[in-house]
Amino acid sequence: MSEAAIRFEGVSKYYPLYHHMVRGFKSFLFNMPSAIREMRNSRFLALEGLSFEVKAGQSMGIIGKNGAGKSTILALIAGVMRPTRGRVEVAGRITSLLELGSGFHPDLTGKENIILNGVLLGLTRREVIKRMDGIIDFSGIEESIDQPVRTYSTGMQARLGFSIVAHMDPEILLIDEILSVGDIEFQGKCHRRILEFKEKGVTMVFVSHSMGSVRMVCDSAMWLDERTIRMIGEAEEVVSAYAGGA
Ligand SMILES: Nc1ncnc2c1ncn2[C@@H]1O[C@H](COP(=O)(O)OP(=O)(O)O)[C@@H](O)[C@H]1O
Ligand SMILES: [Mg+2]
Repeated sequence: MSEAAIRFEGVSKYYPLYHHMVRGFKSFLFNMPSAIREMRNSRFLALEGLSFEVKAGQSMGIIGKNGAGKSTILALIAGVMRPTRGRVEVAGRITSLLELGSGFHPDLTGKENIILNGVLLGLTRREVIKRMDGIIDFSGIEESIDQPVRTYSTGMQARLGFSIVAHMDPEILLIDEILSVGDIEFQGKCHRRILEFKEKGVTMVFVSHSMGSVRMVCDSAMWLDERTIRMIGEAEEVVSAYAGGA
């Protein structure tokens, strides 16, 4: 795969649509064969024919309106879902911070969630425990760390989520909009950490609505618009075009 850490070739992604249920479950049962046929045929196209690559050690930002398909790209890179058409190739160990709090179990405490997530991200329990103090310290929520995560605000969840990721050893790091949630001080801390990862040669894909963050962190950027790539190139140029409101 030469220098590419991530490569998409003609990738399309459809989501199933369940509009048959609109007519009710009973109608669905009584019209099984046709309902199933209809279900197969009614699909929602989220991404259409995407081709691009991210070279090892580079960071790419993805910007665009809500619903453009940004999170779908990250989910495809993470291997959480497969493309309907085309190929997704990834070379490297992935650490991802996808949707906010999605990796957390609400009834477990912050500490227990650190262990759970650390292990899910590929560390042994012992390795996670070794990094525990660092993670708690970075998060700045030590006074709530023994409370169940369901009692946390979105900001606190973002802090905990990023702190865990910040203490992993990623080769490829995926981040979805997380940084906009925390306060300014925590955002600064996250940016510094991300730049450290970058210096170490970590490949990054970074979804953000903060053009300042994309400028600061990313080498290249992709502007995603209505399921296709509207523009891809140097971060500065793409951000300017996007912010210009074209
Ligand atoms: N699991 C799903 N099932 C059906 N449709 C989905 C699913 N996830 C996302 N979509 C749809 O796909 C489109 C792209 O979503 P997404 O990738 O989350 O966009 P973005 O992250 O840019 O806001 C949206 O129209 C969204 O409603
Ligand atoms: Mg999204």
